[in-house]
Amino acid sequence: MVEDNGSVRTLSVDIGGSGVKVMVLDITGKPLTERGRLETPQPATPEVVINAIAVLAASQGEYHRVSVGFPGVVRSGVTETAVNLNADWIGFDLATTLSKQLNKPVKVINDADMQGLGAIAGRGVELVITLGTGFGSALFVDGKLVPNMEMGHHPFCKGDTYEEQLGRAALEKIGDKKWNKRLQRAIASLQRLFNYDCLYIGGGEAVRVNMNLPLNVKLIPNITGLLGGIALWRE
Ligand code: BGC
Repeated sequence: MVEDNGSVRTLSVDIGGSGVKVMVLDITGKPLTERGRLETPQPATPEVVINAIAVLAASQGEYHRVSVGFPGVVRSGVTETAVNLNADWIGFDLATTLSKQLNKPVKVINDADMQGLGAIAGRGVELVITLGTGFGSALFVDGKLVPNMEMGHHPFCKGDTYEEQLGRAALEKIGDKKWNKRLQRAIASLQRLFNYDCLYIGGGEAVRVNMNLPLNVKLIPNITGLLGGIALWRE
């Protein structure tokens, strides 16, 4: 057992469709190391991704426990979907396997949920979307997470899902200008649907957001996903 004292170091891991990122945080969530990153190996099977995490972890010095953000539905450490990785993840016990590999306790959560934990104020209805390879989403009510809200695969426009219209493949196809227009429509539609108090926009492509955002919409830095890793252990 790891004691929850001031010297506990958490290795935070973000598994993405294009990169695997890691960083060590102190008990308050402050980064203790430089972010490490490797390209997500292809095909992104559990074995090779876990290998990449082990390589990155070895370069991060000492840590006592591990938090993982995963780009799919996660229940009790088991990954249930993985649209942008590989079908071998369906029904895979990531928490147990990684814990054996690294010899440390491991907690796993959806990547957008982890981003949200690193960003929210903990008051009212807060919605988080992440723009990267996929389209991630997370909903919080007074700081309490509604886990695995897979908005990305729901219809948004012309029969396409949010992810089909706003994921990286779409961005590369249509370019920044059109993508920003679509995003503006998505923000308006999400406001009508959720009546959120605040919307946070994160993920690797959030840097491409180029519009006047409403006052209750905030861009969050790329690193937020990793920072969210500390909150998983505060239950
Ligand atoms: C997945 C989500 C994930 C998002 C961002 C989607 O394709 O279904 O679970 O949060 O991509 O990675």
